[in-house]
Amino acid sequence: MAGTKTNNKDMYYPSKEIIEQANVQDYEKRYKYSIEQREKFWEKEAENLDWYETWQTVLDDSEKPFYKWFKGGKLNIVHNAIDRHLKTWRRNKLALIWEGEPGDLRTFSYHALNREVSKFSNILKSMGVKKGDTVTIYMPQIPELAFAMLACAKLGAAHSVVYGGFSVEALAERVFDARSKVLVTADGGYRRGKVNDLKGIVDEALKRSPTIESCIVVKRTGHEVYMESGRDFWYHDLIELPIACNGGCETEKTDAEDPLFILYTSGTTGKPKGLVHTHGGYAVYTSTTHRYVFDIKEEDRWWCAADPGWITGHSYIVYGPLINGATVMMYEGAPNYPYPNRWWKMIEKYGITILYTSPTAVRGLMRFGDEWPKRYDLSTLRLLGSVGEPINPEAWRWYYEVIGQKRCPIMDTWWQTETGGFMITPLPITPLKPGSATKPFFGNEIGIVDDQGKEVSTGEEGKLVIKAPWPGMARTIHGDPDRYVQTYWADYKKQGWYKAGDSARIDEDGYVWIIGRIDDVIKVSGYRLGTAEIESALVSHSVVSEAAAIGLPHKLKGNAIHAFVILKDGVQQSSQLGEELREHVKQEVGPIARPEDVTFVDSLPKTRSGKIMRRVLKARTLGEEVGDLSTLEQ
Ligand code: WT7
Repeated sequence: MAGTKTNNKDMYYPSKEIIEQANVQDYEKRYKYSIEQREKFWEKEAENLDWYETWQTVLDDSEKPFYKWFKGGKLNIVHNAIDRHLKTWRRNKLALIWEGEPGDLRTFSYHALNREVSKFSNILKSMGVKKGDTVTIYMPQIPELAFAMLACAKLGAAHSVVYGGFSVEALAERVFDARSKVLVTADGGYRRGKVNDLKGIVDEALKRSPTIESCIVVKRTGHEVYMESGRDFWYHDLIELPIACNGGCETEKTDAEDPLFILYTSGTTGKPKGLVHTHGGYAVYTSTTHRYVFDIKEEDRWWCAADPGWITGHSYIVYGPLINGATVMMYEGAPNYPYPNRWWKMIEKYGITILYTSPTAVRGLMRFGDEWPKRYDLSTLRLLGSVGEPINPEAWRWYYEVIGQKRCPIMDTWWQTETGGFMITPLPITPLKPGSATKPFFGNEIGIVDDQGKEVSTGEEGKLVIKAPWPGMARTIHGDPDRYVQTYWADYKKQGWYKAGDSARIDEDGYVWIIGRIDDVIKVSGYRLGTAEIESALVSHSVVSEAAAIGLPHKLKGNAIHAFVILKDGVQQSSQLGEELREHVKQEVGPIARPEDVTFVDSLPKTRSGKIMRRVLKARTLGEEVGDLSTLEQ
């Protein structure tokens, strides 16, 4: 039975089949229980994992906001994601199906995954990596990226994955902040038929990275790269050494609160925030959310089309699905390469049952028309998902009607790098409204409030807060606990609430509608960029005196970056110079940060204290009312 739509409320109901097989049958009752008995709820979920030692306390809130979950418990996320499956028939189940952009295919059973990860662990160990270290990983979307992450975790070391689309300065800064001694990379990756020269970027970044001693290089593209003797080692050479294959590798018995990874994300200052996630709470949270929201079944083929270099990939390509023993699909390249049928062809070829992607990807594929997906058999699809930014109703309907063929509910999941997993999301049984992430996940209490913490009225816009701790929450900002407190917990200190940094509203049915960021963060194609990072890249160019970056609406990307630049005295404006500055940002931060355009100006709107008022700049550019300007300097 196809999903039906009511006329009056634009509500989409799941079919009987979807409801009948859903892993969760009753939202309201269970939600109520999860709020009233939060610790009991999570304790029960934690029991689905294998622990070396059970916890003494489910939630320790003695040092708020530095919450601890499952304190005293010992487990390793890799033991749960791989080792324990090897004792069952899942040993021979496909863990990973990977397709490269040129069309190459590699598959790994759980048995094979264990072999690859163990080899990688042994290599890292031979380079001195141990508990307490952080290994930086800068890779294209190839299986070795996942192997490297899991290999670190297996040893009890933390990983810090830097998205392969970032460039020299962004990489160097993250390597240094994490004080990594080992970097894992590849010669390059494929994107739109071209080679992305990662090793070239690494070489430049390492000139600015005094902490790195060794660099492991996976051969992917085979183009010529510089290898520094004594520092750079080919992965394919290392795995042949006796040290790599000495009969597996023991999994370290980590504490629940031991760091699993650092993941950097943009904030309101130029310095990225290294959010720290841990083995225990994160394992419980990602696996539980994945199982309930995406209704994961043994026979599913799960495809999260994000990059593993972002939190989405960490939580829902690598950790959550593998803990659940799922078969995970991973694809290296662009969705429309060489033709816009690429994704639909892969869904047919591999029999994908669940597709999780971003509004940007949906919009990007939608513009090529219905003919491309219509030529393929998409009947294996059961559920769809969206993440990264609000999905506009037009894209939602196309996704629902053309891709899901009115059969597959769309899980519009709201969450953040900081939250580790889904926070506001439908379940397969939830009636949907296009553009709404619907309701909070179990255990999560949210509020839409004003600056004083008072709930705004129904339908009104306010600030999104999370009122109680959850196991998947980031524990701190690496090396800067004060910033963690300041950024997330200071505004509603009295109430003890977490400030998400988004504005939202709740409608009369209790459905949450996310509006967007309220801080100086721009979401470009779902990627999070700080205005400060773009501005500091601009002022690092010799001709620039001052710069401001804002996000303006863009049909495909959601938002696009527009830069305003004051040139130094005597420097001539020209369109060529504008182009050079755009390239400069791309070189320093990465292609996603390249401004859409650069406008030369003589002054920038500022507060009396000298802060750039991007809000004013944005309103002026859009020709909108500027609002209260009492703090404006000019
Ligand atoms: C920000 C977090 C969560 C993984 C990817 C992004 C926006 C995320 C949604 C959604 C509306 C969304 C928010 C949030 N966002 N999901 N379903 N609907 N907005 O992680 O880079 O940490 O960004 O992405 O603004 O604060 P991130």
